[in-house]
Amino acid sequence: MNEYDSSRMLDLLNKVGYEKTDELKIADLILLNTCSIREKAQEKVFDELGRLRRYKQQRNSVIIGVGGCVASQEGAAIRKRAPYVDLIFGPQTLHRLPAMLKKLQATNQAVIDTSFPEIEKFDCLPEAKATGATALVSVMEGCSKYCSYCIVPYTRGEEINRPLDDVIAECYNLAKQGVKEITLLGQNVNAYRGPTHTGETADLALLIRHVAEIDGIKRIRFTTSHPAEFSDSLIQVYADVPKLANHLHLPVQSGSDRVLAAMKRGYTALEFKAKIRKLRAVRPGIPISSDFIVGFPNETEKDFQATMKLIDDVGFDLSFSFIYSARPGTPAANINDSLSLDTKKQRLKILQDRIKQNTATISEAMVGSNQTILVTGPSKTNPDVLTGRTENNRVVNFTGSKQLIGNMVQIHITASQVHSLRGLYKNLI
Ligand code: 5AD
Ligand code: SF4
Repeated sequence: MNEYDSSRMLDLLNKVGYEKTDELKIADLILLNTCSIREKAQEKVFDELGRLRRYKQQRNSVIIGVGGCVASQEGAAIRKRAPYVDLIFGPQTLHRLPAMLKKLQATNQAVIDTSFPEIEKFDCLPEAKATGATALVSVMEGCSKYCSYCIVPYTRGEEINRPLDDVIAECYNLAKQGVKEITLLGQNVNAYRGPTHTGETADLALLIRHVAEIDGIKRIRFTTSHPAEFSDSLIQVYADVPKLANHLHLPVQSGSDRVLAAMKRGYTALEFKAKIRKLRAVRPGIPISSDFIVGFPNETEKDFQATMKLIDDVGFDLSFSFIYSARPGTPAANINDSLSLDTKKQRLKILQDRIKQNTATISEAMVGSNQTILVTGPSKTNPDVLTGRTENNRVVNFTGSKQLIGNMVQIHITASQVHSLRGLYKNLI
């Protein structure tokens, strides 16, 4: 979502004469788009700001702005630690950037706006510009789930849904610019309930069906989903819509019912598995990835083993896992935690090793199969080799004509390496 927000900031700033540069030294405006999901991410912001102070000392005219969830969480307090910051804006006010810049230049006073002005953001953003064959499209923002450990509902606000027609129009527009793959985005994307022009409400399943009708769109993804909102209507779309990527990212967080309840996730491990079973009945073998939090306050060895068992039962693919990080203002931050950091680190390593094993097994099983990939460009390490991603997010390297860039192609997988696959080009799709 931050990536999406950053690209929208760039669209907005392009309109008022700014251009992107990778060279800090020549920048007139430096924006940090920040994340506060875990303490480490938040601390990085202040480290980075410390470094930027030097630039500000050398060139006083450079404007420094902090956006995103750290700005939303900390607000004016950021200026206490970094008084040279000129702009502070939240995820819901980034569309006001040009106006904020104007005000800063007129008054020479720092401008702070971390309010939550509802849907206004989407109505004020310029038309999305494609930057390649794949695009992110935000369909809803914020989260109303209030998991006990999570800061998102406080920094991004409660769920706001974009109207169905607006999302479809954006996808159509992107397809006209050559986009082939759309990722529908939202903190809690499968809770999408968008108003339609007939006064009804569309769910994510209906939205995907409409996007699949757009000529030129060949692959649809969505992220991130909540298991409790993983509905039968969405499973039916997996059955009916081949353009929906054969991959699901469904964060489970823990396999222990006790921990899941303490996290306020609203499902049990068995309920989670029942949904996966239903999905695999219509898409046999679909790779599923997840997010895990290890070391939730007072997590017992038994709780942890329940997570490991769930990993074995589901056979999760390439996933994300984190040590629990107490976030100020969330209910879980008040729990007295008796678990040592050492134990948490050990558990994280055990879990990550198991996921790595699963990922390698799944990669090896892909050798000999044909995979559809979207060719994104030359490989970073070898310009003569092309690269793209499979539906389950494996990087595939292969030799082929540069004209294939931006197209969906079939690749015959010939080898599996640690972080990527190798293959032979077969045909265009
Ligand atoms: N500590 C650790 N991980 C967290 N996540 C969210 N909040 C926290 C926290 N306080 C993880 C969850 C979520 C992912 C985006 O970040 O696993 O799915
Ligand atoms: Fe945070 Fe996701 Fe829970 Fe929402 S559903 S509160 S974003 S972990």
